[in-house]
Order: sequence, then C-alpha cells, then structure tokens
Amino acid sequence: MDLFEHQARDLFAAHGVPVPSGSVAKTPEEAREAAVRVGRPVVVKAQVKTGGRGKAGGVKLANTPDEAEEAADAILGMDIKGHTVHKVLVTEASKIAEEYYVSFLLDRSNRTFLAMASVEGGMDIEQVAATKPDALARIEVDAIAGVDLAKAHEIVTAARFPEAVADQAADAIVALWAVFTGEDATLVEVNPLALTESGEVIALDGKITLDGNAAFRHPAHAELVDAGDGAPLERRAQEKGLNYVKLDGDVGVIGNGAGLVMSTLDVVAQASETYGGPGPANFLDIGGGASAVVMADGLEIILGDPGVRSVFVNVFGGITACDAVATGIVQALGLLGDRAHKPLVVRLDGNSVELGRKILADAGHPLVTLAETMDTAASEAARLAAGK
Ligand SMILES: Nc1ncnc2c1ncn2[C@@H]1O[C@H](COP(=O)(O)OP(=O)(O)O)[C@@H](O)[C@H]1O
Ligand SMILES: [Mg+2]
Repeated sequence: MDLFEHQARDLFAAHGVPVPSGSVAKTPEEAREAAVRVGRPVVVKAQVKTGGRGKAGGVKLANTPDEAEEAADAILGMDIKGHTVHKVLVTEASKIAEEYYVSFLLDRSNRTFLAMASVEGGMDIEQVAATKPDALARIEVDAIAGVDLAKAHEIVTAARFPEAVADQAADAIVALWAVFTGEDATLVEVNPLALTESGEVIALDGKITLDGNAAFRHPAHAELVDAGDGAPLERRAQEKGLNYVKLDGDVGVIGNGAGLVMSTLDVVAQASETYGGPGPANFLDIGGGASAVVMADGLEIILGDPGVRSVFVNVFGGITACDAVATGIVQALGLLGDRAHKPLVVRLDGNSVELGRKILADAGHPLVTLAETMDTAASEAARLAAGK
C-alpha cells in the first residue's frame, strides 16, 4: 500500500526523521486556517499518490494565509497524472539551499535491501538516475545488520554529501531505517532531503510503501487505507475478504487455491488466443471453504465486471468436497437470480466429483455448462466469450 505524503510525514516524525510542521486541508478555508496556525510562509501541496506534483503545479508557495487559500483553491480538484486532488498538505516553507535524495527499498532481484542516495535530489532524480547513474549511490544493506550510524555514514560518503551535513544526514538516515523496518515498509523515499539556508537537514517530501503481508503486525495501519483507493471491484472484493485481482480479458475466472487459479489463467489465456479473445478477466481465489455465500460473493464481483462475457469456475474438491461446491454454485445462482446473466462453465474434480456433477446436472441451470477437464472448460469458456 502506498501512502500519501502527509501520512509518510507522520510516520517519519514518529521515528525521529526531521519534518516540517503543518496539517491537511480539504477546502481552501481549511488551508487558510492551517496557514494561520503555521504562522509563517507555507507550501500548499497536492496529496495524490504519484510523483511529479511540483512539475504539475501541485506544489505552491504561499506567503500569507490569503495566498494559501488561493493556492489550495487552484490545487484542489486538479488532475495530476489521472489522480484527482481531494486534499492538500499545508506545511511550513523552508528556505532551501540544497536538495538531496535518500531511499531504502527492497531490492527483489538481488534479494537484499538497498539504500540509494544522491546529492542531486529534487524534482529530476529520475533523470539523474537515467543519465548520470554515478550520481546515485547504491549501497546494499544487510537485513540482519541493518543501518547503524556507521552504516549511515557509509551511505552519506558514497553519495558524496558535503562534510558539513554528514552528521545530520546520517542521523536522518538512521531514523529513516527505523521507519523502514519499524513500519514494515518495502520503500521509504525522501526527495528532497533538504539542507536549509540555516543549515538544517529536513525531509520535505516523503514516500512510503507498506508491505501488506505485514499488516497483521500493524493494527494502526488500517487507518491509513484510503477509501477512495483502487478499482471499485477490487475494493468490493476486499470488503468481502476475497482474493481478487482485475485483469483486462473477458473470461471471468473463479477457482479454489492460488496455484490452481494461476494455472487456470494460463489455460484460459491459451484458449482465448485460439478464439482471438483477450484472455482472463481476473484472478479470484475463493479459498478452501467454497460455501454458497463465498461462491455468490465471488460470482457477483466477476459478473459485475462489464468486460466479462463468460465465467470459468474451476474447483478441485479437497477438504470441501465437490458436492458441497456444486451445492454452493446452485445456491449462489439462486441468490444472484437475474444478476447471474452470463454463461458459466464449471469444471469439478477431486473428492466426491461424481456427486458434485450430478448435483449440477440435476439443477439444470440454463447458464451452466459442465466440462470434464480444465482444458475443455477453458476452451468452452473462451468460445462463449468470443461469441463463437
Ligand atoms: N516545505 C517546503 N518548503 C520549501 N520548498 C518545498 C517544500 N516542499 C516542497 N518544496 C519544493 O517543491 C519541490 C517539489 O515538492 P515535492 O514535495 O518533492 O513534490 P514532488 O516530488 O511530487 O514534485 C521540492 O523539490 C522542493 O523544491
Ligand atoms: Mg519530491
């Protein structure tokens, strides 16, 4: 989960990374009040989960509360790379002497953590990384050893930070590592880590990506979830506790067990190719206990995707045997009524497969086709989706 800048700023502050004071505003009037509270010139900043806000006009200096109100009025509602601005951060303006870059991230390809740092921070860091790779220091971080003051100095030296800021920058880097590990992040980034004219080092922009797999260790992170985030279908699936990922094809897929669903996506992709179709419309793993309610929830989400033209239900009966799953499908179709309006191809295998098939055959639902194997089912679903 990516966080907003203001959320990152709060977590930075909690772990001792120096940040400017300020608060979030949802209206120009609130921005004015926030500027009054700061009592000095402020920067009004669009809160959207994308970079390049400065260049898009989403970061404005305001010398007075009046100017802050005007700036917020201009920024709220703005579209930045497809993200609409619903709130701004009104934060104390710093007089910047220099802008540096610092980040920690999970380097998956090298199976380690990585620190990156540069004295050429600011709005063009991507360009620096692309055109002057030497200007961006990359230092591996051992997960067990972590980042102590000595390691932080190694990072500062590798990035050639000026001697005068080395100690302050190293302290900020140690605190940033505390954010990274303490919050279970896969990315923390500060750009710019600014040196002010008065000689202080301060994090003026922050990005954090939290590791969703560690959410159970951080009950407080639940509050950071943005209700407006993500596609509506994925949000509904999440509310229902379903493991759903929207894809771009036209064959809806439901299966039990992530491995089975992954291979179902493969066979559907292959079958779709034969019919010139775009492939699977989603990943959906309904897990072990495929009850009628879970099946109905899953079907409802898939059928709610306007791109879906047929659905492939691929279930391997294990602890929950095929007869229970078949009953689940029949009951789910009953629960959905008219909302079930696209053809379903069902392939059952595993425990009590004969009984499961019999239950579906006896129900004789007009939209349901039974298939013997995964391949024939995928082919049938792809054919139906293609309207051939
Ligand atoms: N509090 C601040 N005081 C002064 N300048 C700021 C402040 N926050 C940001 N800036 C300036 O605006 C630029 C862009 O802001 P930033 O928060 O980094 O947004 P983005 O990276 O999305 O463009 C920064 O590089 C910095 O020069
Ligand atoms: Mg920035």
